[in-house]
Amino acid sequence: MSQPPLSDAMESVLAESRRFPPPPEFAQQAHVQTMEQYEAMHRRSIAEPEVFWDETARQLHWFEPWGKVLEWNLPDAKWFVGGKTNLCYNCIDRQIDAGHGDEAAIIWEAEPMPDGKPEVVRLTYNDLRREVGVFANVLKNLGVKKGDVVTIYMGMVPQLAIAMLACARIGAPHSIIFGGFSASAIKDRVEDGQSKIILTCDGSWRRGKAVPLKANVDEALTMTDLVETVVVYQRCGNEVDMVDGRDHWWHDLAQGVSDDCPAEPMDSEDLLFILYTSGSTGKPKGIMHTTGGYMVYTYLTSKISFDLKPGEDVYWCTADIGWITGHSYIIYGLLPNRTPTLMYEGAPDCPDCSRFWDIVERHRVTKFYTAPTAIRAFMKWGDEFVKKHDLSSLKLLGTVGEPINPEAWMWYHTTIGAERCPIVDTWWQTETGGHMLTPVPGATTTTPGSCTRPFFGIDAAVVNSEGEAMPTNAGGILVIRKPWPSMLRGIYGNRQRFIDTYWSKVEGFYTAGDGARVDEHGNFWIMGRIDDVIVVAGHNLGTMEVESALVSHPRVAEAAVVGFPHEIKGTGIASFVILKGEVPAGDDAEAFKQELATHVAKELGPISKPDLIRFTEALPKTRSGKIMRRLLRDIAAGKQIQQDTTTLEDRGIVDKLQAHA
Ligand code: PRX
Repeated sequence: MSQPPLSDAMESVLAESRRFPPPPEFAQQAHVQTMEQYEAMHRRSIAEPEVFWDETARQLHWFEPWGKVLEWNLPDAKWFVGGKTNLCYNCIDRQIDAGHGDEAAIIWEAEPMPDGKPEVVRLTYNDLRREVGVFANVLKNLGVKKGDVVTIYMGMVPQLAIAMLACARIGAPHSIIFGGFSASAIKDRVEDGQSKIILTCDGSWRRGKAVPLKANVDEALTMTDLVETVVVYQRCGNEVDMVDGRDHWWHDLAQGVSDDCPAEPMDSEDLLFILYTSGSTGKPKGIMHTTGGYMVYTYLTSKISFDLKPGEDVYWCTADIGWITGHSYIIYGLLPNRTPTLMYEGAPDCPDCSRFWDIVERHRVTKFYTAPTAIRAFMKWGDEFVKKHDLSSLKLLGTVGEPINPEAWMWYHTTIGAERCPIVDTWWQTETGGHMLTPVPGATTTTPGSCTRPFFGIDAAVVNSEGEAMPTNAGGILVIRKPWPSMLRGIYGNRQRFIDTYWSKVEGFYTAGDGARVDEHGNFWIMGRIDDVIVVAGHNLGTMEVESALVSHPRVAEAAVVGFPHEIKGTGIASFVILKGEVPAGDDAEAFKQELATHVAKELGPISKPDLIRFTEALPKTRSGKIMRRLLRDIAAGKQIQQDTTTLEDRGIVDKLQAHA
């Protein structure tokens, strides 16, 4: 007898109670093959971190060995103290030295398909060393020195990888800005990092259109005088203005330049890069990562979480290099593992919604890493786009960036993974540098929606504000109780904010800003942010930033922004806006909402565009003047307010907002 279909909610409850042991064929070949093995290694990594990390670091190349493995003086960690290494050397030269120079390091696919044929560039380690060597010398010729911050605002082209590796080679920290950010975001980051040079492209292909990257840089540079040099890689052929003396074409600068540029021995604690991430207040924070610890940790997490085997895998992470996921798990963790890493330039629905599966089939991708937002979009587009392609090369699937709802997990498992591929749901942050909570795919029994257990060396716990562990399944604050190699070393130029944000909420521990619970199997479940950051389509956004962007419109008096459940993005952006003067009605109101959304996109970039705008006469505030966001969250989610509203100054505002929901 056939069963009636289950409701989504019911399906979700069932999925959560399902447990998926690693497929035996996978486990038998894996680096870590049983839970007992994982637990023994984890116990040891916590009990004797210095021994564990010393052994791991020895797998990589160092110009000079370290003295002490760790010097910990909360909140300051130094890893592999006194050691000298170079991450670019470990990505490229180390593979060449071992005789693998002709193997593929980066496989790049362009978005456009002229005559329906894909354009693919395959860079071997030898190619990469040549290209990186030339560009590293170009940077030196431009006067870039060890320690100078180089801003990179490029599309997903091989030259982006070449640029970042060239920076690492000469010891110039990079600050990569995601190509979807706007001019004012560039200006803020350039000024904060005191960067005098920007690397960009004329444009970047996105759904057949050239995103005008150079024009955005030009606009940013009308707002600051700091930048002296702009290098432009020609990708799309769109028209750009070149300013004499300031702007140079990449191909002109590279003409006749030697490819011989030895890697600079860097101190283990020298700054490798800055990457900006949104905070709950004020401007984005420049998260600092240093060389040795970041290198060792991203190397090991890549190897273990994705179970990488040199010579056997083709790995594809669909993120943009402009995010931490791209830094750690397209380039820096992958190349030292001698695994070809695939970079795709454009959109998943170009020329149609089967593009990703076409890429997986053609390149025989074995390990695939994407975000729940993308998975939900694929589900919506329909299985026929997947079914057209042979996905039998896939061995492992990963997700990152936001909680994955059990329906999406089950779809990924069944439709993409053919119930054969373990899923690694990896929880981590820009600040953590690498995976913190993740299944170890040959060992861990997974459950849809849980990122399971801490990685080696990670002492994670869910606690109350006193730092006491919460009972099983009780929600609390997610903390990390011991230092780990790729932890952030600070916020660029703002020591106090570093201490206040990460080290002051629960004494002695790193607070991640996420709430979580641990279930009866010891598995962690992320419950969402506990600050005013929202995670939209896997990207961290500060509600304050969006509010400031709204208020910068001349007709906006005040604005409050909250997240609400969104079918595709996981969390959408809802904004409640008080206008100056008359409130438009009917079509005018719709047109003005559009104008405001476009204004925010212009100020911050398209990912920050509100999905929902409500005009209101007032915002619900406590008597002390604090906006009660939890009420707005319920209103935006279409829920009835059952919370305590006794501290509200004027309950009538909530009633009005609900009446018009
Ligand atoms: O809230 C968590 C969510 O994303 C935040 C970190 O964002 P960002 O620094 O931009 O880095 C994203 C890519 C690493 C976290 O504080 N998050 C990330 N991964 C997961 C997640 N939430 C639930 N499950 C995950 N796997």
